[in-house]
Amino acid sequence: MMTIKGIKGVKDILPEETPRWRFIEERATRWAGRYGFREIRVPIFEVTALFARSIGATTDIVEKEMYTFPDRDGTSLTLRPEGTAGTVRAFVEHNRAANPLPQKYFYLGPMFRHERPQAGRLRQFHQFGVEYFGTQDARADIEVISLLWRFLSDLHLPDLTLEMNSLGTSTDRATYLPVLVSFLKGRSARLCDNCKRRMETNPLRVLDCKVPECRAATEDAPHLTSHLSPDAKSHFDQVLGGLTALDIPYKLNPRLVRGLDYYCLTAFEITSTHLGAQNAVGAGGRYDGLVEALGGPKTPAVGFAVGLERISLMLPDHSLPEMPPTVYVAAFGSEGSQAGVLLQEQLRQAGVPAQSDYRSGTLKAHLRQADRAKCRYAVLLGDDEVKRGSATVRDMETKAQEDVVLAQLPSYFLRVISAS
Ligand code: HAM
Repeated sequence: MMTIKGIKGVKDILPEETPRWRFIEERATRWAGRYGFREIRVPIFEVTALFARSIGATTDIVEKEMYTFPDRDGTSLTLRPEGTAGTVRAFVEHNRAANPLPQKYFYLGPMFRHERPQAGRLRQFHQFGVEYFGTQDARADIEVISLLWRFLSDLHLPDLTLEMNSLGTSTDRATYLPVLVSFLKGRSARLCDNCKRRMETNPLRVLDCKVPECRAATEDAPHLTSHLSPDAKSHFDQVLGGLTALDIPYKLNPRLVRGLDYYCLTAFEITSTHLGAQNAVGAGGRYDGLVEALGGPKTPAVGFAVGLERISLMLPDHSLPEMPPTVYVAAFGSEGSQAGVLLQEQLRQAGVPAQSDYRSGTLKAHLRQADRAKCRYAVLLGDDEVKRGSATVRDMETKAQEDVVLAQLPSYFLRVISAS
């Protein structure tokens, strides 16, 4: 019979990997909490119009990467390709702006984009993201970037670079775009077909093209940062000054335009040379017009999202905490086997992780299983031990053994575990 396989670009996270994931998620939650962000859980699917209107109809995500399908009544639905749109939709729908501002939200969860799968690029991937609503103050941008930087540094991810740019206000872009388009027209013969099309639909995106010929052709393209209004320039300077004051190193990248259209002013990305082609660990920026564009009151906002698969790929093993020690109950003989079931239950109820393998009937087989399951201790429990009222505790690493009274085993292991 043909076996059914998982979908391309959609990965299982198996038990060997989940501790790594839980660790990353726990650290993300901890850092978000330290900065005063509270968790929001928004749905995995939304009406398609939400993403088209927020991310932008002419972006790669909306044009070719969304998983879109009709609901039974014909309404077009889409699996969320990112978390900002849904968070803003919820902010507007629940009239959250009526509550005191600022408001700070974070989320963790799966996102979906139909991209060509490769290492660090999946069709179902996971993001940790934060969204800070209610102020245009540059200190909010600094806070969000600093949260991202501290979180990634805490995980000891190698070779991180923070890249910064300003996308100006919509008025700044309106003055800059004709300058950029006229420059691009002069170079159009050297641009890829996609960029020729983008020149008409979304010219800023040409600066972000990864095709080497396009990059060379636009090497000396005019910079948006040379067309910033005094307010936008001052905002950018304040953000950069704040990063310097907090000792967060950055590099200016005038090509950083982001693949989503809702951004204005600050745009940033954290890359690592350890990720190959998919070098962005996380990215974000300011989006002061989005709440209003989705029907809410004017509410400036700034946020970021990181890809958890990419973090997991880069996370050094030494960053991971050790697994809590587990006790293996090696029970054999008729009375020993019964006592073994009871002992496991008593250990677990006391808070001590305990396991056994019921297929093993001999001490040798049990000890092999204890090794395979990487249990730190084994309790050797046969009929003689039951009669004696005590069992042998074996340290599987040092091979040291000692006799412990059966009734005292739970408190014995609690002591040992809390000391380790
Ligand atoms: P984004 O740059 O599209 O921004 O995605 C953020 C991060 O998600 C990327 O840097 C990358 O690590 C990860 N990512 C994106 N696509 C994939 C994929 N196909 N496979 C694996 N990882 C991926 C956003 O999503 C914005 N919503 C960020 C934001 C929040 N801006 C303001 N608030």
